[in-house]
Amino acid sequence: MVNDLDRLRTEYADREKRLAGSDLYSLTNPACLFMFQQRQRAVLRLLQAEGFGDLSRRTVLELGCGTGRVLNEYMAFGAAPETLHGVDLLPHRLKEAKRLLPHVDLVCADGQRLPYADASFDIVLQYTAFSSILDDSIKANLASEMLRILCSDGLILWYDFWLNPTNPHTKGIRSSEIRMLFPDSRLRFQRITLAPPITRRIAPWSWLTCHILESLKIFNTHYLVSIRKDRLDHTKI
Ligand SMILES: C[S@@+](CC[C@H](N)C(=O)[O-])C[C@H]1O[C@@H](n2cnc3c(N)ncnc32)[C@H](O)[C@@H]1O
Repeated sequence: MVNDLDRLRTEYADREKRLAGSDLYSLTNPACLFMFQQRQRAVLRLLQAEGFGDLSRRTVLELGCGTGRVLNEYMAFGAAPETLHGVDLLPHRLKEAKRLLPHVDLVCADGQRLPYADASFDIVLQYTAFSSILDDSIKANLASEMLRILCSDGLILWYDFWLNPTNPHTKGIRSSEIRMLFPDSRLRFQRITLAPPITRRIAPWSWLTCHILESLKIFNTHYLVSIRKDRLDHTKI
């Protein structure tokens, strides 16, 4: 039987062939631009609200950093390249990340065994890595590693979809599952990102309609979650 990590390697190789030449993830595609900008606004608001508005001295790790697009966003948010770190399973995706971010520490590893000391990061990110994994035990191991390397007053920032009925190679993650992955933690959920199929239809002709639909939240497919270690829990009051 193929294990989930091997399945993922094959799926990414196929996906890259399928998407070659497509503008699905390009910012020249209005839907993609809308989703990207809306996510950035929500993330910046969250960072500010959690006391991480100034990233210039914060150590940040992205688990499942792929080609480095998210880390690149964090540089635009003010993080210094020397304090940014990325881990990914797939060497060819990391090679592309290295080209984009030559001064960032990028490591090819399985996130189930992160090569970092306990409590060494202020912020740990996961953007759509968990939904690409189908095996529950791998997800549990990744979450436990994220908690292990996070400082006691650090922040895990989760962005992933809970619903994607059209792609059998991914599995949406609902709020109850996220809570189980991060026990003894304080989680705050926001539903963001207007469903991509809707955004693709509407964004080319009306930005305002996309804004209105997204503000209703009922068509939103992703969770943006801030996860903090619950310090009260350690005192067991
Ligand atoms: C959908 S991509 C997201 C990439 C990036 N976070 C972004 O949003 O652009 C998911 C990434 O997670 C990586 N990944 C999945 N399982 C992993 C694991 N066990 N350890 C490290 N990386 C993993 C995949 O290789 C892939 O690059």
